[in-house]
Amino acid sequence: MLGRVNHIALAVPDLAAAVESYRATLGATVTEPQALPEHGVTVVFVLLPNTKVELLEPLGQQSPIAAFLAKNPDGGMHHICYEVDDILAARDSLVASGARILGDGHPKIGAHGKPVLFLHPKGFFGTLIELEQV
Ligand code: CO
Repeated sequence: MLGRVNHIALAVPDLAAAVESYRATLGATVTEPQALPEHGVTVVFVLLPNTKVELLEPLGQQSPIAAFLAKNPDGGMHHICYEVDDILAARDSLVASGARILGDGHPKIGAHGKPVLFLHPKGFFGTLIELEQV
């Protein structure tokens, strides 16, 4: 079911400071901020030779990462995103296996304009998993 790691996501309390740190201290190429109101986050991507790192900052009052940052005020690893060929087939197989899909079970459009789903961390050893159809 799983393909490549599409990205690893880090929640950060101050996106501008995180971008500056990745650019200036780590010498990385970082994309321009993209607001995703439907997901309650503003994102940038750190572009690496083999994958990407997504830096997430809360957007709006209902941000799904606000509680995470309340528990981890310095920021931290929030989720890992794996690529799948067919997100609906993956979802149906996961649901049949008893996995919990977050939200209403319908894919949303993610930061790359592709359908994404999130799997509850309780079913996967404490790590939130995002699936992205590529
Ligand atoms: Co993500």
